[in-house]
Amino acid sequence: MLFIDSIVDRIRYVVGSERVPLHEPSLNGNELAYVTECIQSGWVSSVGSFVDRFESDLAAYTGASHAVVISNGTSALQVALQLAGVKRDDEVLVPALSFVATANAVRHNGAWPHFVDNETSTLGLAPLPLGSYLSEISEQRDDGLYNLRTGRRIAAIVPMHTFGHPVDMRELSKVTSLYGIPIVEDAAESLGSFLEGRHTGNVGLCSTLSFNGNKIVTTGGGGAIITNDEALAKRAKHLTTTAKQPHPWAFFHDEVAYNFRMPNLNAALGCAQLERIESFVEAKRELARRYAEAFADMEEATLFLERPGTRVNYWLQTLILSSDHAAQRDEVLKASNASGIMTRPIWELLNTLPMYRNCPAAPLPVAQDLARRIVNIPSSPQLIKGI
Ligand SMILES: Cc1ncc(COP(=O)(O)O)c(C=O)c1O
Repeated sequence: MLFIDSIVDRIRYVVGSERVPLHEPSLNGNELAYVTECIQSGWVSSVGSFVDRFESDLAAYTGASHAVVISNGTSALQVALQLAGVKRDDEVLVPALSFVATANAVRHNGAWPHFVDNETSTLGLAPLPLGSYLSEISEQRDDGLYNLRTGRRIAAIVPMHTFGHPVDMRELSKVTSLYGIPIVEDAAESLGSFLEGRHTGNVGLCSTLSFNGNKIVTTGGGGAIITNDEALAKRAKHLTTTAKQPHPWAFFHDEVAYNFRMPNLNAALGCAQLERIESFVEAKRELARRYAEAFADMEEATLFLERPGTRVNYWLQTLILSSDHAAQRDEVLKASNASGIMTRPIWELLNTLPMYRNCPAAPLPVAQDLARRIVNIPSSPQLIKGI
């Protein structure tokens, strides 16, 4: 089909003629030097100077007062939800279109994801339909907001900044303050993205990051909780380090907790990567400009661009197929992958996965539509020379 070839040609025009992965880490700054220094020091495990430095560098970069580094983004979100007060058999509002970890972290607390719709302007959780939905299905009681249909407490909400594009947090905060729902932001994909001049993850009670190998900054595997609440940061550190009370030799643990620490070795990689984040963001923004230009006159597919008031990291570049061409999405994926350009569809809707099929869900017209039309295309910063 003509338009499918044209999509592949336009991506090729931007990325060149070789095999192109979806996203590769760029490790040619101080990564080797810091990891070597870490090995030479002998401090390769969960205590060490790179852990402390990565935490303070992350706080400085994101503008949060505190950062606690953790073994991965999923466990960071699990702990963040526990700290937000989520308990067994509560419900947590989650966008239907997100990576599976957003919902898994809810279940790891014994709570239930309650899926709500996304919106086309941000790709993230939609605040306006959420407000009217909550007015229909919920009731305020002494100990919180309750879902009248399930009888369960709605204990938190997890907006996720899809592919680095910030959720409309101003509108969302209006709804959550009306209903008294704590916000925990899943900012796994949005390190380097800003909303109205503030780094994403600074609106809610706390937020979580991921440093998985495919993220804009990687520690091999890793995550973090960032927050402006000192007590919460202290609890996060305590809970993720086996709840051991500080003592030179005694082993006294004061609650059941986790070993979710980030090893110093991984933090060393993180420090070197974070030094280069602005150059990664700039390269990805330049890549977005080039893709946008290449697709400017195409009706069948458009590049999803940042909206006013945001500065987006363009973690994964996103093509949206027109509604008329959604049915050909898999052919686009087949043709591009066959020609050596790695592309992938957005996730399956979470409420359609076997373990989440019976969870509560609001009407999801936009999430259902977007799920059929989104294709991610090569996004590595190295696609721009000099990185
Ligand atoms: C939106 C979202 N949430 C959570 C995670 C989980 O992070 P991790 O893979 O580090 O556990 C990821 C990425 O992997 C993600 O994209």
